[in-house]
Amino acid sequence: MHSERKIPMRFIKTKTYEELSNKAADIIAAVIINKPNCVLGLATGSSPVGTYKRLIEDNKSGKIDFSEVTSVNLDEYVGLDGSNDQSYRYFMNDNLFNHVNIDKSKTFVPNGCADDLKAEGEAYDKMIKDLGGTDIQLLGIGLDGHIGFNEPDKYFVGPTHEVVLDQSTIEANARFFESIDDVPKTAITMGMMSIMQAKKILLVANGEAKKEIVEKSFFGPIDPMVPASLLQLHPDVTVIYSEN
Ligand code: F6R
Repeated sequence: MHSERKIPMRFIKTKTYEELSNKAADIIAAVIINKPNCVLGLATGSSPVGTYKRLIEDNKSGKIDFSEVTSVNLDEYVGLDGSNDQSYRYFMNDNLFNHVNIDKSKTFVPNGCADDLKAEGEAYDKMIKDLGGTDIQLLGIGLDGHIGFNEPDKYFVGPTHEVVLDQSTIEANARFFESIDDVPKTAITMGMMSIMQAKKILLVANGEAKKEIVEKSFFGPIDPMVPASLLQLHPDVTVIYSEN
């Protein structure tokens, strides 16, 4: 017997990346306007760059104020500290934090240089919990369906943890490094628990190459081999996809 699919997801298709970025920025801006001391869960990678650009404009024009905002990022490469221009801390400073009136001491990125990554993961989850959870989690999606760096696996992994990156992820991210050999092989990522506990999820994906994995993730079965598919069980998800 087939039961009717009832997924409380909003799926928005846009014609252009600019439109995607404007819509995503509007959703995040609304969260900040409604709750000036909100906690934003943020992502790196190419997908959210346009969204950050629009949020910077909104901040400069006075539409949104980051002065009371706290942010928690999804992930960081193991072994890269914030001074490395390939680290995700550097990316966030460069693409958002340096250009808005956020208090940098309230911006958190997992520490990929921690001696004890397990303890770092536990402390990160505790911090998110103590902050009251994230009000909105912005996500991109990997070609293999990863969110954060939760790679396809036999199980969904709950806590913030160290991961060995899939070869496909290393290849996809090599474009940001001088050579593929420079891409770190491991990372620390927020796990499915803190992601799923966000009050709202906003996933942005663009490009023909992402079409298949977006379809699999949101219209296929829930499967730890397609990590983003777990989002189907979250009560407040918006996916914005643009083919360009
Ligand atoms: C980044 C992250 C990753 C990326 C994903 C897509 O913080 O968590 O899951 O969102 O790898 O990357 P792009 O947007 O570069 O295609």
